[in-house]
Amino acid sequence: MRARRPPCSRALTGVCALIFLATAALLGHVLLSDFPVEETPPAHWPEASWQGPQNTQEHPGWPRAAPSQCAIRPDSRFDCAPDKALTQQECEARGCCYVPASRGPRASLLGQPWCFFPAGYPSYRMQNLSTSEAGYTATLTRATPTFFPRDILTLRLDVLMETDSRLHFTIKDPANKRYEVPLEVPRAHGQARSPLYSVEFSEEPFGVVVRRKLGGRVLLNTTVAPLFFADQFLQLSTSLPSQYIVGLAEHLSPLMLSTNWTKITLWNRDLAPTPSANLYGSHPFYLSLEDSGLAHGVFLLNSNAMDVVLQPSPALSWRSTGGILDVYVFVGPEPKSVVQQYLDVVGYPFMPPYWGLGFHLCRWGYSSTATVRQVVENMTRAHFPLDVQWNDLDYMDARRDFTFNRDGFADLPATVQELHQGGRRYVMIVDPAISSSGPAGSYRPFDEGLRRRVFITNETGQPLIGKVWPGSSAFPDFTNPETLDWWQDMVAEFHAQVPFDGMWIDMNEPSNFVKGSEHGCPNNDLENPPYVPGVVGGTLQAATICASSHQFLSTHYDLHNLYGLTEAIASNRALVKTRGTRPFVISRSTFAGHGRYAGHWTGDVWSSWEQLSYSVPEVLQFNLLGVPLVGADICGFLGNTSEELCVRWTQLGAFYPFMRNHNDLHSLPQEPYRFSQAAQRAMRKALALRYALLPHLYTLFHAAHVRGATVARPLFLEFPEDRRTWDLDRQLLWGEALLITPVLEPGKDEVTGYFPSGTWYDLQLVPVEALGSLPALPPAPPSPAIHSKGQWVTLPAPLDTINVHLRAGYIVPLQDPALTTTESRKQPMALAVALTTGGEAQGQLFWDDGESLDALARGAYTQLAFLARDNTLVNEVVHVAREGASLQLRTVTLLGVDAAPQQVLCNGAPISNFTYSPDTKTLAVPVSLAMAEQFRISWS
Ligand SMILES: *[C@@H]1O[C@H](CO)[C@@H](O)[C@H](O)[C@H]1NC(C)=O
Ligand SMILES: *[C@@H]1O[C@H](CO)[C@@H](O)[C@H](O)[C@H]1NC(C)=O
Ligand SMILES: *[C@@H]1O[C@H](CO)[C@@H](O)[C@H](O)[C@H]1NC(C)=O
Ligand SMILES: *[C@@H]1O[C@H](CO)[C@@H](O)[C@H](O)[C@H]1NC(C)=O
Ligand SMILES: *[C@@H]1O[C@H](CO)[C@@H](O)[C@H](O)[C@H]1NC(C)=O
Ligand SMILES: *[C@@H]1O[C@H](CO)[C@@H](O)[C@H](O)[C@H]1NC(C)=O
Repeated sequence: MRARRPPCSRALTGVCALIFLATAALLGHVLLSDFPVEETPPAHWPEASWQGPQNTQEHPGWPRAAPSQCAIRPDSRFDCAPDKALTQQECEARGCCYVPASRGPRASLLGQPWCFFPAGYPSYRMQNLSTSEAGYTATLTRATPTFFPRDILTLRLDVLMETDSRLHFTIKDPANKRYEVPLEVPRAHGQARSPLYSVEFSEEPFGVVVRRKLGGRVLLNTTVAPLFFADQFLQLSTSLPSQYIVGLAEHLSPLMLSTNWTKITLWNRDLAPTPSANLYGSHPFYLSLEDSGLAHGVFLLNSNAMDVVLQPSPALSWRSTGGILDVYVFVGPEPKSVVQQYLDVVGYPFMPPYWGLGFHLCRWGYSSTATVRQVVENMTRAHFPLDVQWNDLDYMDARRDFTFNRDGFADLPATVQELHQGGRRYVMIVDPAISSSGPAGSYRPFDEGLRRRVFITNETGQPLIGKVWPGSSAFPDFTNPETLDWWQDMVAEFHAQVPFDGMWIDMNEPSNFVKGSEHGCPNNDLENPPYVPGVVGGTLQAATICASSHQFLSTHYDLHNLYGLTEAIASNRALVKTRGTRPFVISRSTFAGHGRYAGHWTGDVWSSWEQLSYSVPEVLQFNLLGVPLVGADICGFLGNTSEELCVRWTQLGAFYPFMRNHNDLHSLPQEPYRFSQAAQRAMRKALALRYALLPHLYTLFHAAHVRGATVARPLFLEFPEDRRTWDLDRQLLWGEALLITPVLEPGKDEVTGYFPSGTWYDLQLVPVEALGSLPALPPAPPSPAIHSKGQWVTLPAPLDTINVHLRAGYIVPLQDPALTTTESRKQPMALAVALTTGGEAQGQLFWDDGESLDALARGAYTQLAFLARDNTLVNEVVHVAREGASLQLRTVTLLGVDAAPQQVLCNGAPISNFTYSPDTKTLAVPVSLAMAEQFRISWS
């Protein structure tokens, strides 16, 4: 059950307060538990029942709410006590309405505020609206201060109609420059010519209304609750056109968020993924599906600690503790376009190196290079692919960055060179915190960092010292340009010793084992803001550094949520300069725009079935946020895995865009070769499938990189008009063509999945070569195509099988798998052609050397389109370069060929040894062709 904030936290009454405190204590502040729901709320709330009680107390500042102004349905009440629990007197002193949930006649709907704004509560008034070049500008003034300190009573509104599908508005203090997120918008705006939306304003109370022109639906209406713009409390509320909303990462939850009084807190934090908790990243963007299947998105470009409150009316309130209100509205109209329009603002994903899509293996506890070598040998001996071998903290000397320990890891440089000779890569963990405890002159990263003043400083202007893995540590300030150069120097110097290939940046929320710093934190408004979002631990200092510490661009209070992003930018840059090839960075902490520089893994997940299923919505969510290179630790990180869990997790993990098995120090080993022969066969089969599909995956990443597309997709992105797809988060798509239906529960040998309308072919019909020298697997039993009207289908799913279906109308390139991508990239290719009932299909291949930085700019790539129609398959050479000229096409598998052909021709010459299976309507054509030379295969 998902945790919700108990009503007591809104308005404290004796008994309720006790229960609340007891609950909080029991759950160690991590989970705020539900109160049991006894009754279901009635469908219609009788308006008259909700008149507030008589007010008892006058307040000079705020006029008392009249009972009629309190007649607001519980769902539509906006919280007048966001900052703390209030008594009735305190609530009414704010001029608000007080109605405890227990006092309503049938009050059982949990989460509604007891203290809420009456109709007509003072807000800002809009004056002097005028048109500007690309929109409007106006002044907002507030006559009555709010109950937060330091209101900014005069504000400036700027509305920019930047493109036909993008509206941008800002609300700022015209007199004093406040902190703004330093985001450089990569695809800047012009001016909308015929916008798909219209903008209206409410003068008093001030509000912005954004309407979709087609159909007139209101997408945003900020008139629903008063606007707050105090120094440390900004609140903007809006109605939502539907209950269907996704985004607002990072949190552990189903893909579709609940609007039943859900509070999502964004304040990056090192915490094993737990429901209802602020986790490693912050992405203040949501996508909402409208009833018609159209979609829009909203991005609040603000990096301060915030809460986002969802309520059932439905409505949403952004509550931030600083910065400005900088809002983008994307009107799609399709969900796919919304994602792309968002990525126009925050940046398209970086193009990963090809090897980054292979299998990665890691654990904490590989205590020496001898162990690392054994792992690689054992993987090879058992015929498991392995592209990238990783190390956790073990390799470091005293857990300090940019060192390696001279006991177990003395020959780390040679070990990495051996990995390279075997066609493999090496990635190691790097934490941001720099050990500060050694004597001067003993640790160059700290000495140099001090000299170059790269560290975050405390109240007295000295480096703030916290405690992380190496003990006392200072925290680099990656918003300082000097830090970027220092970081690059450290990366380059270490790389000169250990020729690593990528960086795994962990602990970068930043995580701190002591609260604030070893010397505590000052007592000021930044450390103790008047509004503390619902952070785990109850204070901004929990598990991180002091909010009021100083960074180059602003205070940590403003920049905290950007720490991981700025470290990712620094690491990406350092790798580019050091290695001169495409950087590979995987980060735990993220912020909006992260995918432009790095990927993400979902942190310290437990080895549990529950976390296995949560990983699907997590991966989908990050794809919608422009971070397609994402995956969870396969088989789970914390705790011991089981053989069955590890097999199912490896099968699903084969379809994470980023595939890594990683394990904790004290858990039982979980490398693929540790399990029974049957389990190993199942894992090998999943890995062979992934490696066979890598050309397709790489092509999807290219589309993400150049067009802002997603790689792993929720079904609603492809089938928005089918409402049944909207909340599916136990299946995923790769691009448009592949539907993956994993088993996420123990003890199952079948699985039920939703198949949107159309024809779907079992991918097992397409032969995939075995790995290494192992004999080929027995052929899959014939499995007929699914002709779906949009329905649930139950499929066999024995332990050795993950169901993957190819959507009719698409062509997918495959390549014979091998034990590394270095080898697999040289193997012959195949095409899987999934014909529609009309006999058509199309697909793409993007190919380059897999790692050079400027392949696109130099034209050093090959791009092919494939097209099937009228019993003919042709390729179209969109672009060709040396890199793709040697690719050989060996097999074409046509799915959905209704009758055995009399004749198959390849470039006009008959092919005699084709095979046709009437059971599965599959035609397999062996060929010997150059992929990048025009060909024509026909059957009749
Ligand atoms: C609106 O414009 C008028 C005329 O320029 C000016 O006197 C007034 O101060 C403005 N009001 C606000 C709130 O900016
Ligand atoms: C916006 O919300 C306000 C307050 O709830 C409401 O009075 C108004 O009708 C809404 N505007 C539109 C266009 O829906
Ligand atoms: C919200 O709660 C109501 C009543 O408990 C329930 O009917 C509804 O399905 C819930 N909605 C969501 C999106 O969870
Ligand atoms: C590798 O395999 C050998 C032989 O089975 C085994 O003794 C050794 O413990 C394994 N080492 C690791 C690190 O997996
Ligand atoms: C600031 O940090 C230094 C260590 O770099 C420490 O000695 C000093 O006490 C700290 N100042 C405050 C006010 O905590
Ligand atoms: C098919 O026949 C051609 C010659 O006609 C031969 O080169 C090729 O190896 C054969 N392929 C298979 C898979 O039998």
